[in-house]
Amino acid sequence: MSHDPASARPRRFLPSGPLRGRIRVPGDKSISHRSLMFGALAVGETRVTGLLEGEDVLATAAALRAMGARIERETDVTWCIHGVGVGALLQPEAPLDMGNSGTSTRLLMGLVASHPITARFVGDASLSKRPMGRVTEPLSLMGADFSGTTLPLTERGLNPAVPIAYRLPVASAQVKSAVLLAGLNTAGITSVIEPVPTRDHTERMLQGFGAELWVEEEAGERVIRIRGEADLRPQQIEVPGDPSSAAFFAVASLVVPGSELIIENVGLNPTRAGLFDVLRQMGGQIEELNSREVGGEPVADLLVRHSALQGIDVDPALAPSMIDEFPVLFVAASMADGTTTTSGLEELRVKESDRLATMAAALTDAGARVQEREDGLVIQGTGGEPLHGSANSRTKTHLDHRIAMSMAVAGLASRDGVEVDDTRPIATSFPAFEGLLDGLAA
Ligand code: S3P
Repeated sequence: MSHDPASARPRRFLPSGPLRGRIRVPGDKSISHRSLMFGALAVGETRVTGLLEGEDVLATAAALRAMGARIERETDVTWCIHGVGVGALLQPEAPLDMGNSGTSTRLLMGLVASHPITARFVGDASLSKRPMGRVTEPLSLMGADFSGTTLPLTERGLNPAVPIAYRLPVASAQVKSAVLLAGLNTAGITSVIEPVPTRDHTERMLQGFGAELWVEEEAGERVIRIRGEADLRPQQIEVPGDPSSAAFFAVASLVVPGSELIIENVGLNPTRAGLFDVLRQMGGQIEELNSREVGGEPVADLLVRHSALQGIDVDPALAPSMIDEFPVLFVAASMADGTTTTSGLEELRVKESDRLATMAAALTDAGARVQEREDGLVIQGTGGEPLHGSANSRTKTHLDHRIAMSMAVAGLASRDGVEVDDTRPIATSFPAFEGLLDGLAA
């Protein structure tokens, strides 16, 4: 799973004809990780359909197996998890290989924190640079012990752990989830105070699994409380399509002339769907068809048509609801009419790559006019003209799947195409991406 730079798989993404027809994107990554984790802690059999079979989610599955859960891919559509029960995770014999996955790492550190086990976490070059202090700090307050604040590191859990009330210093669903998951096996009430709301899949799904978890609004902040030593009941889960994966095809359809594409089964949880609102504010024609509920989450099919986009100032308050979608929003902005300004995006510097610096360099190379600021990018769009592309250079993606897919979209709407230095990381979240794109372009 760790990618050797010597065997990188470069690819030039060429200008494309209109994107038309229907596609279906794979299951939501955040919900897939949590389905496996909560299933592994419920006694009995949890069945999951629509699980994302990307490398990040498979890293979570392998780690949970190493800690005693039985997890099997039963058919093309169904996964089956036999959980061990809260408090019964076993000590893994070998280091847990987290690959590229920050979500696997931070959430599993939460689970281990309140079990009497020791686990070593290792990952690829990108993950090994990412800050883990944001989870080791609260988990240490609960009694866990860590050998460092970046991977590779060893965690020693404590049982019984100490419940805490923790105010999130950064808007992060991973940190929130790590503390709540540690709280699952901690006697008493663990609480997290969230000044800025982030994706709420952990809360929704833990309630679905029968945990005593409640959310209140107190003085303008969200307070989430969980009662520990919970008994989780096995569930049947249908994972909705990932809005973060749909985002690439939505932007591609907006910027490639003549496109009219239906993207089926897209999860539209309000804590995730900010990109679609921002694209509509820019003049993007995105319609929601067949709105319904799947697995307790709002879902719709999106009909997206090529549109004349206008630059806007993106409200920084929307950032948490589209935190993974900024790279592809920057691509849309680079072809809009006028200036798009983004701010409040310091967190993008600690994702799979520094997404402000990486996208500024990649888009500049492809002919966009981009100014990088400490907390965002300012982009002067072409007014609907294609980017010139990167005929003589290769975009550096720094092991970041979302940079690779965003620049692939830029290539589709360019004159000369865009060459991406390594497409392998795309398999962490969206293994079918290139196949779907090639199918549409054909
Ligand atoms: C995720 C939370 C976000 C997001 C990541 C998935 C999750 O990270 O970027 O892709 O599943 O909880 P942060 O919590 O670091 O913002």
